[in-house]
Amino acid sequence: MRKASANRTIVLSDEEKKGFRTLLLKLQKSASTEEVLGKIINQDIFEVVSLLPSEFVDLLFIDPPYNLDKKFNNHSFKRMATDEYVKWLDSWLSKTIRLLKPTASIYICSDWFSSSAVHLVCEKYFKVRNRITFEREKGRGSSKNWKNNSEDIWFCTMSDKYTFNPDAVKLKKKVIAPYREGGKPKDWVEENGEKFRLTYSSNVWTDITIPFWSMPENTPHPTQKPEKLLAKIILASSNEGDVVFDPFAGVGTSGVVAKKLGRNFVMVEIEEEYCLYALKRLQMAETDKTIQGYYDGVFYERNTLIERLARRPPKRHSKTALFTKNGDTKIEKLALLQQ
Ligand SMILES: C[S@@+](CC[C@H](N)C(=O)[O-])C[C@H]1O[C@@H](n2cnc3c(N)ncnc32)[C@H](O)[C@@H]1O
Repeated sequence: MRKASANRTIVLSDEEKKGFRTLLLKLQKSASTEEVLGKIINQDIFEVVSLLPSEFVDLLFIDPPYNLDKKFNNHSFKRMATDEYVKWLDSWLSKTIRLLKPTASIYICSDWFSSSAVHLVCEKYFKVRNRITFEREKGRGSSKNWKNNSEDIWFCTMSDKYTFNPDAVKLKKKVIAPYREGGKPKDWVEENGEKFRLTYSSNVWTDITIPFWSMPENTPHPTQKPEKLLAKIILASSNEGDVVFDPFAGVGTSGVVAKKLGRNFVMVEIEEEYCLYALKRLQMAETDKTIQGYYDGVFYERNTLIERLARRPPKRHSKTALFTKNGDTKIEKLALLQQ
């Protein structure tokens, strides 16, 4: 079936699937760091965790199945009682501790219903530093309840020695009430006729867009995380060359962003189809390092980047710069970046 021209969802041909399948790793015995670095391991995390090397992870990003009835291609997750979900989380998390460096940071995603269970398990093994709540605009309305529009990410560390780069994740915000002191702007600047402020990122993120069909990072995965969200986590909690490990990788968002930002990765995912999409995205990341909503080293509020770039003086948009390799106009491409 042909897709609409504005539909950017990544597709995989049979030929591509065949080629990417040869790149998947399956572990039968204990592996060294070199053997798994930059790889997607297509296996059950329960089967593979004991075969992974010790202390190779700088940043552990975990986006597990939430405590919901959910189908992930051929596998389904069934909602359980909260104490059962706590036990399920513990059953694999306890085994990942061996993989972490003493300086590692850990991020674990959850929805409102699973959040308390994740907190409990995190407290057992880590120093819990914060809970980030992000607004997810995509959500079903309900006539009997509040629409579910938020998710939590628990931020923990192994010790008091850890990487945190707040300057790498600043948000460029419009100034609503530009305050002056002695006639001079107080903590804001004017650029191309608009006023903005660079602010430190808080634990409430309202600038995230969940991938949808017109975004070039979109895939058929039902719960794909946005690259912008991973970019914040990876920039704040790792340095170039560090290793990001993701045991429930889906279509590989963590590894793709790690690659775009000069980090290493190891990913595990049980569903072959998702692994193949991840490999295609990694291939795309070789030539396209853009991350929607992140430009010139700063993050932009949702839907404000295009406005800003359009206001820049014309010399910044030379005729040649207006077209990208795949024929999109630069402004269209930036419109996609800003989501
Ligand atoms: C919430 S999704 C992760 C989505 C991912 N963050 C992304 O951006 O694509 C959870 C993933 O865990 C995978 N999964 C579930 N059980 C697993 C297991 N036992 N071992 C490895 N992967 C598993 C599912 O197939 C699903 O793709």
